[in-house]
Amino acid sequence: MFSYLRYFSAISLILVVVTAYFVGMYFRSIASEDLITLVEKNNAALAQGYINSTWKKHYNVLIRLWRIDVKRWGNYREFLEFKNETLDYFEEMPVSEINIYTLSGDLILSTDPSKEAASFNSEEALAFNMAKQAQNTSRILDDKEYYLTGGQVAYGTFIQTFTPILSDFYVPVVANNTQAKVEAVIELHYNITPQWEKLWNFQIVSMGGIVLIFVILITVLFVSSRKAEGIIAKQHEVNLELTAAAAAAEAENRDKSQFLANISHELRTPLNAIIGFSEILKTEAIAKLEHQYQEYMRDIHSSGVHLLSLINDILDFSKAEAGKLEVNISEIDGVKMVKNSMRLVIPRAEEAQVTLVEDMPDKHFTLQTDAKKLKQVLLNLLSNAVKFTPAGGEVKISARHNPADDSIVIEVSDTGIGIAPKDISKVMQPFGQVDSKLSRKYEGTGLGLPLSKKFVEILGGTFNIHSELEKGTTVTITVPRLFNRDSQPA
Ligand SMILES: Nc1ncnc2c1ncn2[C@@H]1O[C@H](COP(=O)(O)OP(=O)(O)OP(=O)(O)O)[C@@H](O)[C@H]1O
Ligand SMILES: [Mg+2]
Repeated sequence: MFSYLRYFSAISLILVVVTAYFVGMYFRSIASEDLITLVEKNNAALAQGYINSTWKKHYNVLIRLWRIDVKRWGNYREFLEFKNETLDYFEEMPVSEINIYTLSGDLILSTDPSKEAASFNSEEALAFNMAKQAQNTSRILDDKEYYLTGGQVAYGTFIQTFTPILSDFYVPVVANNTQAKVEAVIELHYNITPQWEKLWNFQIVSMGGIVLIFVILITVLFVSSRKAEGIIAKQHEVNLELTAAAAAAEAENRDKSQFLANISHELRTPLNAIIGFSEILKTEAIAKLEHQYQEYMRDIHSSGVHLLSLINDILDFSKAEAGKLEVNISEIDGVKMVKNSMRLVIPRAEEAQVTLVEDMPDKHFTLQTDAKKLKQVLLNLLSNAVKFTPAGGEVKISARHNPADDSIVIEVSDTGIGIAPKDISKVMQPFGQVDSKLSRKYEGTGLGLPLSKKFVEILGGTFNIHSELEKGTTVTITVPRLFNRDSQPA
């Protein structure tokens, strides 16, 4: 995109320079035409003044001289008088060269001492002929050599005008048309060097101004687009880095989950043997053991069971993380399932002197879901509630069907120690536990809540925890009544 800008700028710059040049030329040509017209009028007026004051006075003498070769006129006193008066007349005028010609093109006199005879180029010859037909003709002479008052040579721009010297009498040539009688032709060079330079400077300044403004605009555009380009490039780099980091993290996470899944699986086999054999020993050989060893036997068995449930949690969690957790859908009685789950924690609640309360609808509802997973979630929540509620407290479980979106809402609340708002996100992380003196006395691994949340999400539902320190905790889960594979998280 920005390379187009470069082309655009370069092409525009060329167009602007060319346009500015032509516009300048156009204005200059208009201005110079005006200047020529003005100077031509001026030259004609000068010539007329000269004709009236000097030419007419000497015309009678000149008529007499007319019959003699012009080259010999200089020998006549009358001619010299005429010449001096002519030079005097133009002395004060802003014209740098005056030449007067006879109609046959002979030079009568010139202010240029080096000029001895008429020497016309083709344009001048044309202008001279126009003057013979009583018309003024002017043109610009560029870079013309001329003499300053001190005698030095200078170069300048002049307007050369050929003006007819008209007699007072008009001779009809054709009917209804009159033609003035031309007696001679006068050529004047008017110095317009300063005006011409001003015009030229004006053209340069206006052209330069236009180009400069354009260059400033383009530079601003360029600089800002460069900056934008830089920002975009940087952003792109950051995006790439982020994508790479995310991919690396995901791969790492996947590897970790895979590792945990493998190791948990491998641990389960020997553990099952430990539990199985200790179970046999507990039931069949325990009577033969000493009392102390009977205790050890029970510890081996209960520790084995505890370890197995822990390994199963780790296995489930890593499978869920790796997206490999499978669901087993069946249709169940929701109310019954909730009641059964509650029944399982009754012994623990009694031991902890916590009251269990249930709030169930009269009408049973069925739901399609993974019963084992949902039950495990309820057990996790209920055991947390019992575990973190001091004696005398209350744990309540409620379930209801929400017909608005055909979902099941189950709520487990307690009047226990609660969780500080800053710790909520921590306890939702695997192995995240609130490390306070109060809670450290409770056993556990810190997998219950994150695993429950994962299960609920896999069942297409939502998991919400609300807690207040020393007041209690409420966990609300919502699952669709009918399981829909499409609504599972990716
Ligand atoms: N109902 C509750 N009241 C107060 N704190 C709770 C409650 N439920 C959970 N917590 C806090 O959240 C932490 C994490 O809970 P979670 O169920 O994930 O792990 P756990 O109960 O410690 O161990 P596990 O469930 O793996 O045996 C707990 O250690 C506890 O600090
Ligand atoms: Mg727990």
